[in-house]
Amino acid sequence: MSVDNPQRIDTSKLDEIIKEYGCDKSNLIAILQKVQEVYKYLPEDAMIYIGTKIEGLSPATVYGVATFYAQFSLEPKGKYEIKVCDGTACHVRGSMPVLNAIKARLNLTDGQMTTHDGMFSLETVSCLGACGLAPVVVINGKVYPQMTSDAIRIVLDTLLKEGR
Ligand code: FES
Repeated sequence: MSVDNPQRIDTSKLDEIIKEYGCDKSNLIAILQKVQEVYKYLPEDAMIYIGTKIEGLSPATVYGVATFYAQFSLEPKGKYEIKVCDGTACHVRGSMPVLNAIKARLNLTDGQMTTHDGMFSLETVSCLGACGLAPVVVINGKVYPQMTSDAIRIVLDTLLKEGR
C-alpha cells in the first residue's frame, strides 16, 4: 500500500463521511461501510486518507480492518453484484453447477471476480439464511430461489439486456 499520494480520489467526499460519523476510531467500520456504499468498494487511497485523518488510526490499521471483514471489498464491484450461496444446503442442492453456469455465461475465468465491462461481480457466500430456498442466488439484494443452471442463464440474459 502506497502512502505517497492519497489525493487521487475526492477527499471532500471522504471528509463529509468522516464528519457525518464522527472523527473517532470507534466509528471506523461505519465509515468504511459508507465509503463502500459510495464507491462500491474501498479504494486504497480512501483507506490511506481515512487512516491519516482519524486520530489513533494509521493506513495500515484501516487496511487491516478492511481485509478482516468479508463485507468489505478492495476491488471495484460490478453494477450487478451476484452472490451465490455455497452453504451446505445450497451446495447439496446444486449451487456449484449454478456458479459454473454464471462463470461461463459471463466469461469469468478462475479468480476473476468482476467482468471486464464492470457489469457483473460474482462472489460465493457461506449461507444467506434462506436454506429452505436452496440453491439461492442474490443479485443486488434480490433473492432468486431454487436456482438451476438454465434458470440463472435466463436471469443473466435479462440483466444483460436491461443493463446495456
Ligand atoms: S446454505 Fe444457502 S441459504 Fe443457507
